[in-house]
Amino acid sequence: MGINPFTPAFGSMPRYMAGRNEIIDNIRKGIQNGPGDPNRATIFIGSRGSGKTVLLSGISSAVSEDGWVAVNVSANDGMLESIVEQAKLNASHLLPKQAAKRIAGIQAFGFGVSIESVPTEAPSWRVRMSNLLDVLGENGTGLLISVDEVDVKFQDMVTLVSVFQHFIRERREVALIMAGLPGKVLQLFQHDSISFIRRAFQHHLGSIGIQEVKLAMRKTIESSGRDISSDALDAAAHSTGGFPFLIQLIGYYAWQQSEGKKKITAADVSQAAVVAEEKMDQMIIDNTVKEISDGDMSFLLAMLPDEGESSIADIRQRLSISSASAAQYRLRLIKFGVIEPYGRGKVQFQMPLLKKYLLKRYGAEISRD
Ligand SMILES: Nc1ncnc2c1ncn2[C@@H]1O[C@H](COP(=O)(O)OP(=O)(O)OP(=O)(O)O)[C@@H](O)[C@H]1O
Ligand SMILES: [Mg+2]
Repeated sequence: MGINPFTPAFGSMPRYMAGRNEIIDNIRKGIQNGPGDPNRATIFIGSRGSGKTVLLSGISSAVSEDGWVAVNVSANDGMLESIVEQAKLNASHLLPKQAAKRIAGIQAFGFGVSIESVPTEAPSWRVRMSNLLDVLGENGTGLLISVDEVDVKFQDMVTLVSVFQHFIRERREVALIMAGLPGKVLQLFQHDSISFIRRAFQHHLGSIGIQEVKLAMRKTIESSGRDISSDALDAAAHSTGGFPFLIQLIGYYAWQQSEGKKKITAADVSQAAVVAEEKMDQMIIDNTVKEISDGDMSFLLAMLPDEGESSIADIRQRLSISSASAAQYRLRLIKFGVIEPYGRGKVQFQMPLLKKYLLKRYGAEISRD
């Protein structure tokens, strides 16, 4: 028996994170390096299930271990308030009562003036945060703000970024780490009043190396009291295509298949891959495909006849489009995280199982054409 150690649920911290140690380490060191370090404004861009939320949590814990105060929010209206609340809570050991009041927005008044008798306007978020950062700075520490699911439709998102820009200029001890879907990040970058954000360090979360996937899967299994044969591990890792959500899905079902046994076999893995594919279609690919415009979809469908990579010249011919339009489709789909460049003038599918999904649904139409 034994509890299934895999975590195919969104935002769930995996027992072993595959292949993200270097990014976490670099950002951690960058943050400690001091004001002016570019890692202090970082944005992760990745498709659904590419591990954005988990990565933000990993960075948050690493930075907290270094003594910084970390707050984690998802973009929405109300997140500015939540940042203040969490910061007060997480920094309460550093905040003397007076400082807590400053941050809460209650000003310290002179003699003879009671707080109640003075109608005050709530100080702006920038003022409250500056007070908080002053106190943290006096204590030799700083603040990490992590924002998941960035979305510029929220005014709080715009305010946060523009205020953060001032904090950077003032060389305060603060860092902003964000994550979002490619389309949402693009919209954020296109927003005129916060063009500063385009200079944030950008990390595209691509696929994780097979060796690192193998290591994480093996450790997850062995630390939970089972083994996996080496051919099964090989097959499992390859079926994930290095995609984080699939690591958990395939691991989860392989564990389930081997219930009552000590060792996971290649047969367990191949059964698991079938179930995992169905779940991946429902949970990731259906949603991703819905967000792709008709034009971009025609480009993807034009890639289907190719065995491996597709040449842009072939795609142009199949669709009868100009090289300028082909270049536009190509760039948008790359930014969306569904295809990737493959040498000069070629592209290939990046999101695992997407090609198979499209073939299942549209393959018949394509071959008739
Ligand atoms: N580095 C990793 N190694 C192994 N598993 C991972 C890794 N990163 C994430 N996962 C797993 O992948 C799944 C998706 O992770 P996460 O929720 O962070 O993705 P996401 O990019 O935030 O997705 P969404 O865009 O839908 O919010 C989870 O089941 C998580 O446990
Ligand atoms: Mg997420």
